[in-house]
Amino acid sequence: GKLHNLLLDLPKVEHHMHLEGSLEPDLLFELAARNKIDLPKDDEAFASSESLLARYGRFTSLDDFLHYYFIGMTTLVTGEDFESLAYAYFKKAHSQNVVHAEVFFDPQAHTTRGVKSETILEGFQKAQRRAKDEFGLTSELIVCLLRHISPADCHQAYLEALPDLKNGKIRGLGLSSTEKGNPPHLYKESYEDAKKHGLRLTAHAGEEADVSYMKSAVDDLGCTRIDHGIKLRDDPELLKRFAREKILISMCPMSNVELRVIKSIPELPVREYLNAKVPFSINSDDPAYFGGYIQENYCGVQEAFNLTVEEWAEIAMNAITLSWCSEERKDEML
Ligand code: ADE
Ligand code: ZN
Repeated sequence: GKLHNLLLDLPKVEHHMHLEGSLEPDLLFELAARNKIDLPKDDEAFASSESLLARYGRFTSLDDFLHYYFIGMTTLVTGEDFESLAYAYFKKAHSQNVVHAEVFFDPQAHTTRGVKSETILEGFQKAQRRAKDEFGLTSELIVCLLRHISPADCHQAYLEALPDLKNGKIRGLGLSSTEKGNPPHLYKESYEDAKKHGLRLTAHAGEEADVSYMKSAVDDLGCTRIDHGIKLRDDPELLKRFAREKILISMCPMSNVELRVIKSIPELPVREYLNAKVPFSINSDDPAYFGGYIQENYCGVQEAFNLTVEEWAEIAMNAITLSWCSEERKDEML
């Protein structure tokens, strides 16, 4: 059988999605109008929601996507905007039986436009509380450093987030944006400090760049989770280490296809990781841009690999046990 109904009913945990990447074109245009934000006039893609969606279907690379992603989020200005964005995601995730979500956001993309970090965080926290109260959906925030920005400026952003990392309003630290040419070790200063404080650490690595970026994220930054991480088959020793140390890989199948990292989902190392007991989860990354939320990604993997109920149970269990929530919350989910 195809198991798609079972996959819908399965309580799911999401570890890799960027809240700004859930900005659907309709909300983007609504916010642009309300906040009087000028969208590019020299790009026909911004003529309408339909043309923008059509353009999203033709990304050629990570950077081609990031261009649209960073323009889109300039429409987010007020606390209510950030709240609406996150609430819409949580509501959609709940409809697909997501029970816990660990979500990224990019403060540098907002503070450099004059939005206050408190505005962003307060908006997101309101949405988190509503999701908990209305849907029982728990969530954690992960702050991303943007690696196309200099390590020194990223460190400033890290220091700005540090009080909220220490008080638990933000659960962990991540690293995203243009991967090639911006290897993890450049961001060591921030990660070393975060490690000293006992914080949770992840980084995007092995998406467009090679497996050495995954090794650097683990060795140089001390990451216990790697986002995308689809290049492990090129380093068998490192692969064994991921299995031994239970370093979670947060895979994003539809994203990889849409950004031309792979041609199609069957190219993903799902079989290799299952056989070698490398723990991984399946995630949506930027669902408004890549044509699907978590459920569509689960179904894409099932179409490609025809996994058994037992294999799905293992994937679902790893997603829970390697989450960054409390042990009590894990027990509730198991
Ligand atoms: N920011 C949002 N989505 C991303 C991705 N897939 N890779 C790197 N940075 C991102
Ligand atoms: Zn990502």
